[in-house]
Amino acid sequence: MAVNLRGRSLLSLVEETPAEIRYLVELALDLKRAKISGQERRLLVGKSVALVFEKTSTRTRSAFEVAAADQGAHTTFLEPSSTQMGHKESVRDTARVLGRMYDAIEYRGAHQETVEELARYAGVPVYNGLTDEWHPTQMLADALTMMEHSDRPLHETSFAYLGDARNNTGHSLLLLGAKLGMDVRIAAPEALQPSAEVLELCRGVAEGTGARLTVTDDPRAAVRGVDFVHTDVWVSMGEPAQAWDERIDVLLPYRVDAALMAATGNPRSRFMHCLPAFHDDRTTVGAELVARRPELAGGVEVTDEVFESPASIVFDEAENRLHTIKALMVATLA
Ligand code: CP
Ligand code: NVA
Repeated sequence: MAVNLRGRSLLSLVEETPAEIRYLVELALDLKRAKISGQERRLLVGKSVALVFEKTSTRTRSAFEVAAADQGAHTTFLEPSSTQMGHKESVRDTARVLGRMYDAIEYRGAHQETVEELARYAGVPVYNGLTDEWHPTQMLADALTMMEHSDRPLHETSFAYLGDARNNTGHSLLLLGAKLGMDVRIAAPEALQPSAEVLELCRGVAEGTGARLTVTDDPRAAVRGVDFVHTDVWVSMGEPAQAWDERIDVLLPYRVDAALMAATGNPRSRFMHCLPAFHDDRTTVGAELVARRPELAGGVEVTDEVFESPASIVFDEAENRLHTIKALMVATLA
């Protein structure tokens, strides 16, 4: 059956079929090539997209704004301090107002329930630009990036994810890999492994796609032979700063350093990170962490050596946020 995503929301990737995910990634590649070769056609002229950000963002916001501009659409950036949302107006009322004016709504914030409620009431496509639970637009970019950096189809490739594996990125990567039939290795201490609920969901998906899912507390075993090594920050947006010390204590063995990349035994293994990353002391948080915990000199979740190495494809991954978010808007709105 032909894939048709017109009018659809993207809330988590739970609802999307493997064919729909592949369709979005392939469309993104087409749009990327069209932009690079100067042949992009503007398919979203006259469309307006509301960008609601209750958490900070560099990539996601920029990707939506530039993708919309490339396609001839208009965006409005909305955040809590300059809108009524939450404090003076409920989510469902906001959804019905925005749905009367905009063709689609992007939402980034803490609660998955909020983005789902927006989708229930807006009457237009709603895109999850990150919640505490899921980060689906990041997954489209990660899939495109892995596809571009592999000479095999994704269902014949493997990746490991190390670190906080029960955050939005960890859960989303597990689900993405399950949907695309990949060999997925998750390495984290037991308390930070994927939730039983998400693991059960992904194991069910894997039965139908042939994906292999491994969850372990052994980082070296996890990375053996893999094509891609992913990680993410150890403390996510919205978590208390006090969480850092405890996370550092348990996650230090999962830091992606040169020895861990070598433990893949695969010279072509590539490093990925959704970014932003703490790989040096050039950020206020990074500098403060390194000053307090000298064992972090060289990098927190990834060392600067790996981040800056030829194996690192993090900026290809960041760029692909643009092309994949554009594909999402084109597929659902054009
Ligand atoms: N990866 C990602 O979502 O980046 P931003 O937080 O900058 O949007
Ligand atoms: N897990 C991170 C992802 C940032 C893009 C966070 O939620 O802060």
